[in-house]
Amino acid sequence: RLRFQRRLLSWYRRHRRDLPWRRTRDPYRVLVSEIMLQQTQVDRVVPKYREFLDRYPTLEDLARAPTAEVKKTWYPLGYNVRPVHLQGIARETLARYDGRIPDDPGLLRSLKGIGRYTAGAILSFAYGKDAPLLDTNVRRVLGRVFIGPDGKRLKGDKPLWVLAEALIPKGKAYDFNQALMDFGATWCTARKPRCLLCPMRSFCLSYPLDGTR
Ligand code: ADE
Repeated sequence: RLRFQRRLLSWYRRHRRDLPWRRTRDPYRVLVSEIMLQQTQVDRVVPKYREFLDRYPTLEDLARAPTAEVKKTWYPLGYNVRPVHLQGIARETLARYDGRIPDDPGLLRSLKGIGRYTAGAILSFAYGKDAPLLDTNVRRVLGRVFIGPDGKRLKGDKPLWVLAEALIPKGKAYDFNQALMDFGATWCTARKPRCLLCPMRSFCLSYPLDGTR
């Protein structure tokens, strides 16, 4: 576990992607980026993230805008329920929490459009809490390294959530979670993972993988 933490963080120092939402801890901006990233690739999110925040620089701006306009600004990211949820979150936050996005997992998840993943992202990226987060990439990384080739047959996510939580180095969830996502997106990829250059190779339960390079 320590080895994985240390190696992942040191990999991240060398290979991290410079993404606009990593230059802020503003909960509103984190929220916007994570809702966009739920179903859309990083490359497509970057320009839209900037455009969206130019148009709605604050949660209040977003809450007060007409919904049809917000949907139009969102276009063409797809999944048009997301901008509606996002605006709903802004409106509810303004009405119920005085405009401050909650830092409590239960309250966060009571907002429509925020699931376990997005709640974890807001808690760790905006509030610096040691909250776990699991998306497709993170599932794949943890499944491969700690569960092995049978990981795909695993029923349910529960063991992976437990693992994702247990792995967080105290006080470092921000970097650790961002690192896990980058590692899954650029190294431990679904097809042709870069096992030969992988810092986890010596203890990865799935190494060597077919299609390794
Ligand atoms: N996918 C979802 N959240 C992300 C983030 N914060 N950075 C990169 N990719 C992501």
